[in-house]
Amino acid sequence: MQYMEEKLLGIKNNAISLILETKSPKELEEIRIQFLGRNGEVTQLMKDLPKLSKEERPKIGIVANNVKDIIEETIKTREKSLKETKSLHVSSLDVTEPGIKPPLGHLHLVTQAIREITTIFAQIGFTRVRYPEIEWDWYAFTSLNFPENHPARDDWETFFIKQQSDQKKGTVLLTPHTSSGQVREMEKGKFPIKMLNIAKTYRRQSDVSHTPMFHQFEGLVVGENMAISDLKGTLNYFVKSYFGENRVSRIRPYHFQFTEPSFEVDITCGVCLGKGCRLCKEGWLELGGAGMVHPNVLKAGKVDTKKYTGFAFGWGVERVLMMKEGIKIDDLRILYGNDLDFLKQF
Ligand code: PHE
Repeated sequence: MQYMEEKLLGIKNNAISLILETKSPKELEEIRIQFLGRNGEVTQLMKDLPKLSKEERPKIGIVANNVKDIIEETIKTREKSLKETKSLHVSSLDVTEPGIKPPLGHLHLVTQAIREITTIFAQIGFTRVRYPEIEWDWYAFTSLNFPENHPARDDWETFFIKQQSDQKKGTVLLTPHTSSGQVREMEKGKFPIKMLNIAKTYRRQSDVSHTPMFHQFEGLVVGENMAISDLKGTLNYFVKSYFGENRVSRIRPYHFQFTEPSFEVDITCGVCLGKGCRLCKEGWLELGGAGMVHPNVLKAGKVDTKKYTGFAFGWGVERVLMMKEGIKIDDLRILYGNDLDFLKQF
């Protein structure tokens, strides 16, 4: 009996240490079979119980049951702790795991274009300026040689603001073009002028090819002996820098109140390079307006017209951007619709 009791206690200790070393439920099951299975060590030993004397039998029986219970209990506890460590692994911090990258945004495509245009003109000495978006009629029209009630004002589809008008400066409006910066720049009285005014402009129009707010960039140069050839040189420089070396510009006669002579500027089509194709038909794409500053505008800006002459040009940022990217947008309003799937592409 002594022998059996010792053997049982030995089995118990061995089982416990093996159970505590297990690393998976599978290993644990193997241990359970090894000790408590049909041919397990404890089961085997209990089969010998009938061989013992009547008095010894119940005593060893109790020890054997105890050992069995302890082994079962330890297995259960181990099972639980294995599960816990597993879930602990999932939620614990693994410093070797690659981090979660937060999505990185980028500048809006119009902002990108504004920056690029600014850089191109800065290289030939133009300084970017900013003037009010809410402006007097005087700067947007009258000082630009639009007599009061002149029909040409209608071309600018202006938004007016309900506010007391000024005797000299007239009504208040949203700048319908960046030309409203011309006289403001001249009033600074610093010559020569090499101004680049990029700003939001507003017109009463909203359809697939117009947004009520859009951007223009306006160049104004006022200095001694400024000629049309200077304007042409500047246009060509911009066209080649922005659209590519193989593109050229041309000017066609046009009419604006504030320039004389006035021009429309075209550039060669990016597909056929001026030969004419299905896309452009004639080989040329229309860019925007330009001209030599009208003497009346120089006078309004208190510029000495005997000493100085100037040229100006003003184009749409969205327009040159679309032309450069070669993208045809069915509805231009998508530019300001905050549609990330669209914006992400640029
Ligand atoms: N302001 C004109 C427009 O909005 C463009 C322009 C600017 C024309 C400068 C000539 C000179 O259409």
